[in-house]
Amino acid sequence: MAEVIILPDSQAAGELVASTLMEQIRNKPEFVLGVATGSTPKSTYRALERQAKQAELALDHLSVFALDEYVGLDPQHPQSYRAEIYREVVLPLGLDPARVHVPDGHAEDVAHAGSAFESALATAGGIDTQILGLGRTGHIGFNEPGSSLASRTRIKTLTEETRQDNARFFDSIDEVPTHCLTQGLGTIMEAKHIVLLAFGAEKARPLAASLEGPISARVPGSVLQWHPHVSVVIDEAAAADLDYADYYRHAWANKPTWQGL
Ligand code: GLP
Repeated sequence: MAEVIILPDSQAAGELVASTLMEQIRNKPEFVLGVATGSTPKSTYRALERQAKQAELALDHLSVFALDEYVGLDPQHPQSYRAEIYREVVLPLGLDPARVHVPDGHAEDVAHAGSAFESALATAGGIDTQILGLGRTGHIGFNEPGSSLASRTRIKTLTEETRQDNARFFDSIDEVPTHCLTQGLGTIMEAKHIVLLAFGAEKARPLAASLEGPISARVPGSVLQWHPHVSVVIDEAAAADLDYADYYRHAWANKPTWQGL
């Protein structure tokens, strides 16, 4: 079972995850971090920025791999995931742009962009820690319901629910791309450590389905039950539908202090 840590809010979650990352990066300066877009991981990125500055830890040997990208959106478009990763992670953390990898949804040969991304990932030695958010459909990355649990980085069609969720970042829903390029569930599962973050009541249902429901392509996040090292860091609202919330609280409160995430 994944370790589930229920904290008062996303700030506390961000500080905890960032302090774990700091420790991991100190031990391995060429650390490979998998990054997610969206509002959920922002508190982690801000906490990592602050903690690294305070400790004077340079992050310029860190490599980052993004989970996904829209297909057909200009990489300069402010809502492209490349632009978002630069804005939220690469520039504030002072990362080396040569070590930043985002699936290329604007490639001339977009059909092969997935395998090109997989090759870059293999060359870097795979992801050490992957940060994940959760979509309302239970998706991780952009692996919508029905995604193969063994899938690799490829083009997917977005559900209307996901397009509506993301329409708030565009002038109208018509501007939201219909397709994306996303790391597959099989790709994500190869990360050595996975940190799943979820905050707010709208994540309660997909989170409970992912952690405590049957493993099924219907709920892509449920594939994480097969992973040997997943840390789930959430707030009280996101924990609302978990049957075993009391047990998770008890286990966290009694965890040996020498054990990290
Ligand atoms: C998008 C991204 C996901 C992200 C999800 C949740 O669909 N592709 O990687 O987890 O949104 O977004 P938010 O964190 O804003 O709720």
